[in-house]
Amino acid sequence: MTGSVLFVCLGNICRSPMAEGAMRAVAADRGLTLEIDSAGTGGWHVGNPPDGRARAVALANGVDISAQRARQIAAADFERFAHIVAMDRSVLRDLKALRPDGASARLSLFLDHVEGREGEDVADPYYGEDEDFAIAWADVHRGATAVLRVVAVG
Ligand code: 4NP
Repeated sequence: MTGSVLFVCLGNICRSPMAEGAMRAVAADRGLTLEIDSAGTGGWHVGNPPDGRARAVALANGVDISAQRARQIAAADFERFAHIVAMDRSVLRDLKALRPDGASARLSLFLDHVEGREGEDVADPYYGEDEDFAIAWADVHRGATAVLRVVAVG
């Protein structure tokens, strides 16, 4: 194992499952073995598969995320993962508040890893249309490559 990353959004049914799937695909392409997971700050969808629109856009891009199940972030995640990456700024604020004192995980904003997109959110597509899921997929796929460079070095 050369690195570990947890992607976090609100519900763990749209953005962070897509980020997990995109990152698994990019890592597999490069023959890298990393621990990759996702979680939500909220518990509304625990145990559910990703939203059907997220599953569809991932599959259209060759990535099957249908086996994923939503879970809520837990205190232990702040020790288990070297990197915890928030899909938007409000999630990052919540993660900073949830982080136990002295926890080792490095927190970051997903699009801070992408040149020219620093400080931006991956827009929440949950209340949107298919097109919003396509935009979110493009963002997470682009970002996965950038995050991989950070995670693979430790
Ligand atoms: P996600 O999208 O955070 O990208 O998984 C959402 C999914 C569900 C809700 C909000 C955002 N919700 O309020 O149920």
